[in-house]
Amino acid sequence: MKYTAKYSQLVMPDNINIIGTLFGGQMISWMDIAAAKVSYRFLKETEAIGAVTRAIEKVEFNEPVYSGEWVNFESTVVETGKSSIKIQVDAYAEGRERGKRLACTAVIIMVSVVKDENGQYHKYEHGKLCE
Ligand SMILES: CC(C)(COP(=O)(O)OP(=O)(O)OC[C@H]1O[C@@H](n2cnc3c(N)ncnc32)[C@H](O)[C@@H]1OP(=O)(O)O)[C@@H](O)C(=O)NCCC(=O)NCCS
Repeated sequence: MKYTAKYSQLVMPDNINIIGTLFGGQMISWMDIAAAKVSYRFLKETEAIGAVTRAIEKVEFNEPVYSGEWVNFESTVVETGKSSIKIQVDAYAEGRERGKRLACTAVIIMVSVVKDENGQYHKYEHGKLCE
């Protein structure tokens, strides 16, 4: 099965850096949420309580994004291990003046987890494959 998710954010003035474009740290935070959404779908019907971010690889900022634009995130599970889930996240900016463009890409590794009786979480072998 192919696992995908979509998620959008409106860029507000609070998200802007000192040169007038979307702050990169904010973009990475949204990319992480986009990865969390597809990992949530991937882990439905397993005993995992969720997944945590283990690594963020290959982040590329291709185009600046401006206040008032939308960012549309598309996340796809591209590879799985025993507990890990490798996710490709593509962020498309969309604005009245500039149109749709691929603004940022990243590969995010999440690890599925369960909690023990002491409330501590540990990695969990999800045993699932993606397409
Ligand atoms: C996630 C966590 C529970 C895993 O603990 P662990 O028992 O040490 O397991 P490891 O991290 O060594 O390995 C887990 C998986 O991640 C993979 N992995 C580890 N480091 C990796 C890296 N840098 N890049 C890609 N994959 C990586 C391992 O290969 C393994 O994959 P597999 O189970 O599919 O074979 C622990 O590392 C942790 O709590 N990290 C902090 C998470 C966090 O706070 N994230 C931010 C908030 S969400």
